[in-house]
Amino acid sequence: MSRPAPQTALTPNDIRARKGQTPLVCLTAYTTPVAQWADAECDLVLVGDSVGMVLHGLPSTLPVTLDMMILHGQAVARGLSRALMVVDMPFGSFEDSPEQAFRNAARLMAETGAGAVKLEGGRHMAATIRFLVDRGIPVMGHVGLTPQSVNTLGGYKVQGRGPDRDRILADARAVQEAGAFSVVLEKLVASLADEITQDLEIPTIGIGASVGCDGQILVMDDMLGLFDAFRPNFVKRYAHLAAEAASAISAYATEVRNRDFPSAEHMIRDNGVGKDG
Ligand code: KIV
Repeated sequence: MSRPAPQTALTPNDIRARKGQTPLVCLTAYTTPVAQWADAECDLVLVGDSVGMVLHGLPSTLPVTLDMMILHGQAVARGLSRALMVVDMPFGSFEDSPEQAFRNAARLMAETGAGAVKLEGGRHMAATIRFLVDRGIPVMGHVGLTPQSVNTLGGYKVQGRGPDRDRILADARAVQEAGAFSVVLEKLVASLADEITQDLEIPTIGIGASVGCDGQILVMDDMLGLFDAFRPNFVKRYAHLAAEAASAISAYATEVRNRDFPSAEHMIRDNGVGKDG
């Protein structure tokens, strides 16, 4: 078993204490260098199961495995010193029983050094959240659009319209009651996200929810413009790195074909002059 990185400075209790304060800044990360970028600004870094779609080219988050989450969790831990690291419990790793959830959450914590796990689901997952919290595993909840349930929800649809509103409010309350230290609200009508934020004593972290949430989270590759295959309408692009990468690769290809690269400064000469590092 590989050794987990040391715990980072911020703890789940610190995040919980930020209820109603300056909004919490949260992003996903899946690799060491990107975690280092995020650590400079973020309070919480999520190793999300979105890794399956944005890094592995999978069609949904459903095929993501516990081993994938552990590998990416270990990479992210090496890049963090301040932000709290939370690792997602993937589909199939926690729904069977509280005992199954504990076994897998304990592996995630022990093998990555994560400070908490996140799991999707409301009232039906409350007993499992309570079981984990009572055994020393801090849990972040996730209600509203829960992508692991895309097949029963009928797609990646906005949640919380009409009678659905009461169900989602009840889910958020159940997650808090079960002992979660915060909860992600995904793709909800803004007025419901505001109502839940006012109702709960734990911080709400919005993604496609409301500016009134206690914090915001985005998928790193979405906000950097690195992932275009699937683009939810609530994602704001803060950069267009895929386009920059494509033009860099195209410039390189042209230079290789024209024998412009490598030029003298990128070659090692017989007399020892030139780069060797
Ligand atoms: O997997 C993920 O990236 C997430 C965020 C969308 C919150 O769960």
